[in-house]
Amino acid sequence: MSTPHSQAPKSGKPAPLASRPVRRRAPTLEIRPARREDYPTVIALLDAAHLPHCDLTPEHLDEFLLAERGERLEGVVGLEGQGEARLLRSLAVAERAQGAGLGHLLMEAAEARARAQGASRLWLLTTTAEPFFARAGYLRAERDTAPKALRLLTEFASVCPSTAACMTKMLD
Ligand SMILES: CC(C)(COP(=O)(O)OP(=O)(O)OC[C@H]1O[C@@H](n2cnc3c(N)ncnc32)[C@H](O)[C@@H]1OP(=O)(O)O)[C@@H](O)C(=O)NCCC(=O)NCCS
Repeated sequence: MSTPHSQAPKSGKPAPLASRPVRRRAPTLEIRPARREDYPTVIALLDAAHLPHCDLTPEHLDEFLLAERGERLEGVVGLEGQGEARLLRSLAVAERAQGAGLGHLLMEAAEARARAQGASRLWLLTTTAEPFFARAGYLRAERDTAPKALRLLTEFASVCPSTAACMTKMLD
């Protein structure tokens, strides 16, 4: 009778590597601080997500986080501004990776980073994802109630359309 063992080489040695079936593990997801040299891939992802980025410089990436699987960029989120109130911006997940929780993971990572840096409140502008942020505790606010320092940022002042929803959340 044939058993799995009967197919092993007679010598008892394992089959050479080249003849074994290749089992590739899916690369794990890593969330890491962005580097300035990530700029072109970040811009490509923001482009694909139809998010504005004309004000974004490589220096902004000092306050950005990236989600990578292997070599592939799957998501991005940024913080901007100083002090107690910060702007959460440029949250985007590659289309192929959407719907698996990565958007929330990145948002929570940005919130944790802001909290660790002493921020107590986040603000954001969105034209497309108000319900997504509302489910995470962000509340609609009048744009002119945002702190002046944030309103002077280019994203607030001119990049995001005036029709964008302004939202805010107190950090625990
Ligand atoms: C918004 C975005 C970051 C969400 O990323 P994601 O990885 O798909 O989100 P998650 O998997 O964590 O959450 C998925 C849930 O959010 C909901 N959701 C995702 N995008 C949404 C949107 N634009 N509006 C409302 N709900 C949305 C999904 O329906 C899903 O709901 P479910 O859990 O009931 O099925 C992603 O859709 C994206 O990159 N959009 C384009 C850029 C954008 O609009 N960014 C926000 C402005 S800064």
